[in-house]
Amino acid sequence: MSLWMIDVLTWLPQSWQDWILPATTIPVVQNHPSKVQLSRISHVYFDHGDLEAFDRFAKDFGFVQAERKGNSIYYRGYGRDPYVYVASQSLTRRSRFMGTAFVAKDQENFDKALKLPGAVIKDIGEAPGGGQMITFARPNDTFFHVVHGQTERESGTIPTATHDSQGPFNTPLEKPRKGYFQRYHDGPALVHKLGHFGYVCKEFEEELDFYTSNFNFVHSDILSLPQLPHIDVMTFMHLDLGKAYSDHHSFFLQRAPPGTSKTYIHHSSFEVSDFDTQLMGHKHLAKKGWKSVWGVGRHILGSQIFDYWYDSSGFKIEHYADGDVVNEDNATRKEPVGPISVWGPELPKDFGDNKVK
Ligand SMILES: *[C@@H]1O[C@H](CO)[C@@H](O)[C@H](O)[C@H]1NC(C)=O
Ligand SMILES: *[C@@H]1O[C@H](CO)[C@@H](O)[C@H](O)[C@H]1NC(C)=O
Ligand SMILES: [Fe+2]
Repeated sequence: MSLWMIDVLTWLPQSWQDWILPATTIPVVQNHPSKVQLSRISHVYFDHGDLEAFDRFAKDFGFVQAERKGNSIYYRGYGRDPYVYVASQSLTRRSRFMGTAFVAKDQENFDKALKLPGAVIKDIGEAPGGGQMITFARPNDTFFHVVHGQTERESGTIPTATHDSQGPFNTPLEKPRKGYFQRYHDGPALVHKLGHFGYVCKEFEEELDFYTSNFNFVHSDILSLPQLPHIDVMTFMHLDLGKAYSDHHSFFLQRAPPGTSKTYIHHSSFEVSDFDTQLMGHKHLAKKGWKSVWGVGRHILGSQIFDYWYDSSGFKIEHYADGDVVNEDNATRKEPVGPISVWGPELPKDFGDNKVK
């Protein structure tokens, strides 16, 4: 719905408004031990029309190839997941998002997921780290996966492709970096892990219900239309881990505006270490001829320093750093949709659009 139509709507009596756009409120949800407990987001699957082109993008974006097997390339970051992105050659030449995988807390929760309607078990033993996976086929050709039993990578150090020497930041009042210098060279922003993804979703209520009633997704921020506060249009969700902290959002859902024919992924996002890495990575992707979407800037909800790019197939993909983490003591907040950055370039008008080839 265009903004002028919403403006017109707000002038109409409430009963007319309700008839045209019925109230749709996202209920606040609580986690419960009966739900499948997921411990973290792990990796995404994409079919690309041109796998070799994506492989070039992946290198410039900061992924490291873990393994190439048959039609697929497994890319890793430097975190504990054996891979964070699986790219496959599309057999139809059409590029498609094939879903995100989350890690089950333990065997018991994996078994619980297997009992949910639509669960199909897959052997991923041949992939790096091995393990098992359950796939749920959801409406509009979307997929959701739960993994268990993967061998995790050793992690703990932060490698870099750009930093020669970097000490602490000197501030106006304190200069902890005495006599040594900040030095960098050209290179990609190395990826740590997958952080989040989200859909512009046709079956908004149905899908929200599926994810929040079966899994430990809870809302961090629920957003309504500024002019029509009884219409919720977006939610940022995190995994409830009790007292342990988790990323402010690992999954978001946005109600598809009328006229959207099919659910599509808005973007997927990968963590990098710091602000300098973000800007060095930005420069590197630009130098290699890739197309910037929006960035570098800082978000408000989630606080991340963001940088969005188009990959070789036209999917939006983000580098982020310095995101918020929350726990069970942080209640769900509800607010109107507002500006989405506190600083950064102008928000492009087509930020919400789907440009996948
Ligand atoms: C996508 O979802 C919408 C709304 O549920 C439905 O009308 C449409 O037929 C679906 N399209 C596909 C290709 O599944
Ligand atoms: C989140 O919860 C912690 C612990 O209770 C609290 O200190 C913090 O202020 C909360 N943050 C927000 C934004 O509510
Ligand atoms: Fe993002």
